[in-house]
Formats: sequence, structure tokens, C-alpha cells
Amino acid sequence: MGDFTLLSKGRPKREQVEGKVVWITGASRGIGETLAEQFASLGAKLILSARNVIELERVKSKIIVKYPGSNIEILPLDLASGEEDLKGAVNQAESLFAGCGVDYMVHNAAFERPKRKAVEETVEGLQATLKVNVLGPIILTKLLAPFMIKRGGGNFVVMSSAAGKCPAPGQAIYSASKHALHGYFHTLRSELNPKGIKVTVVCPGPIETSKASEAGSSEKRHEKRVTAERCAELTTVAATHGLKEAWISYQPVLLVMYLLQYMPTVGFWLMDKVGGNRLKAAKRKGNTYSWNLLFGEKKRA
Ligand SMILES: NC(=O)c1ccc[n+]([C@@H]2O[C@H](COP(=O)([O-])OP(=O)(O)OC[C@H]3O[C@@H](n4cnc5c(N)ncnc54)[C@H](OP(=O)(O)O)[C@@H]3O)[C@@H](O)[C@H]2O)c1
Repeated sequence: MGDFTLLSKGRPKREQVEGKVVWITGASRGIGETLAEQFASLGAKLILSARNVIELERVKSKIIVKYPGSNIEILPLDLASGEEDLKGAVNQAESLFAGCGVDYMVHNAAFERPKRKAVEETVEGLQATLKVNVLGPIILTKLLAPFMIKRGGGNFVVMSSAAGKCPAPGQAIYSASKHALHGYFHTLRSELNPKGIKVTVVCPGPIETSKASEAGSSEKRHEKRVTAERCAELTTVAATHGLKEAWISYQPVLLVMYLLQYMPTVGFWLMDKVGGNRLKAAKRKGNTYSWNLLFGEKKRA
């Protein structure tokens, strides 16, 4: 359920993160909530961000019950709020734990709209997605990186997606937003590597979260999804081993990622076969990750 390099690394390196400050956006639910738990289990100090403070308090209480003595601060944040607010958030994050700034910035929050054709996307949807998924994380990074450079090190962990590596029929804007993160963060690493800044871009395929299992939706669609726990665990492995990129998915998504990376002509040919069928599957709320998309999925009862 992961690329070969990632799976070869084994367990997370606790010593890389124990006592370090890890700031996670989108920590109020889903993968971000699970990531917070896993970083707490490794002894990290946490800053939890999202818009919903009540949910952040719930996540904090849950972690403290599970890992008593955890150091957790809540920092409410709207990634779409613009530079001034984000500057305030960065200054606060840098001062929440006396004597330590942010060691790991985990850009996990994102906005994903229901699947629809690229040409049916609205300009409002485009702007909302790019603000939260791209502009917010980039502005935060630009504001936080100088603090890390001054300290001589820091880590950015970027939750992208398989849709950041491959065409994702029905998710053109989401896919565009994740591709943009790859361009920015791989470039940032190439510029800041000599200053001790590391960047890990994580690309999960379908993941089982409370959102995915709403009304048993993914089960009903017969979609095979990696659990949020395993996704979060592999993310901590990738981050603490300093991997530049990591892929987390079951088949067929992982195979498509390998094809597009190493045999793009075949990969793009395949995606052209899949595109229309995936749009149809999404419309009837069927399995959008099935091998059958290559041939046209049969209707399920
Ligand atoms: N789930 C999957 O199958 C899957 C697959 C591949 C990649 N991913 C990626 O993994 C990450 C987490 O996905 P998920 O499924 O766990 O997402 P999710 O359940 O929808 O949670 C999204 C998180 O982002 C926060 N958020 C949304 N808008 C925000 C804003 N304007 N400002 C600040 N925070 C905001 C939400 O909190 P509030 O609403 O409280 O602000 C929430 O905590 C995302 O980057 C996603 O693209 C997910």
C-alpha cells in the first residue's frame, strides 16, 4: 500500500520528532486528526489548526486521554483569510511553546468539491479551492520559512494526493491544486536544502476517513481504501526519514502512479480510456477507483 522506498523504511524515527513542535493544519477531523494522534504517540508537541475550534478541542481531549502528558495547543486558522491573518498565526505558532519554534509544518488541510466535469467547474469553486489548497499553504510557508532558516532547520510535510501526480477525471480543479503544490514545494526544497530545510510531499490515493464512510458510502461503492491510521503512520515514516516524496495507496491507483511516473505514454493512454467511465461512475455514485473503469463499469444494485 505504499511505494517501494517508503515501505523499505519500516517504522517512524521517534528521535527525529520527540520533543519537537509539529503544527498540523486540518487537524479537526479525517487524516489530520489521525496524524495528530500519531505525532503525539511519538512524543511531539502539537499545534492543532482548522476553523472549527470545538472539533479541535475534541481532538485535543481525545489525544490527552490516550497519551497523558501530551503538549497540545490549539490555533484556530482559516487558510483563506489572507496574508495579515496568516502572519498573525505564524507569529503565534512560533511563540506557543517557550523556547521552541515550529519544527514540522504539516500542510494537511484541503478543500475538495464533489466530482464533476472540468468544464462544469465554476469560477467560485476554482477560487475557493486554490485559496485553501494552494495560496494558504504557500503564504504560510513563505512566512514560516525565515524562522526555520534562522534556526538552521525545519521540515515541511505536504499532504498532496495521487491526484497531484496523475490526471483525476472528475476532480480537475482539485488535481490542479495538488499539482501546484508539487511545483512549489519541490522547488522550495531545491532552494532551501542548503539551509537545512526538508520537504516531504505525501501522495495518498483513496483513504478511509469519516467523510469517506459517511452513510457507508465507500463500502457501498466497493472502494478499497487505506485506513486513515495507516496513511498517517506512513506519513510519519516518510517525514521522519526525510523522504522527498511518498505514495500511499492500494491498487489500481498505485500502479497508475508508477506508470505515469516511469512510462508516461502508457499512463496517459490508460487515463484517456478511464476518464469518461470515471465520470459516469461518479455520477451514479459507483466505484471511482475500480479496474473496471478501463472497460466501462457494470451497474451495481
Ligand atoms: N481522504 C482521502 O481519500 C484523501 C486522498 C488523498 C489526499 N487527501 C488529502 O489529505 C488531506 C486530508 O484529507 P481528509 O480527507 O482528511 O480531509 P477532510 O476530512 O475534508 O478534512 C479537511 C480538514 O481541512 C480543514 N479545512 C478545510 N478548509 C479549511 C480552511 N479554509 N482553513 C483551515 N482549515 C480548513 C478542515 O477543518 P475545518 O472545517 O474545521 O476548517 C478539516 O480539518 C487533504 O489535503 C486531502 O487533499 C485525502
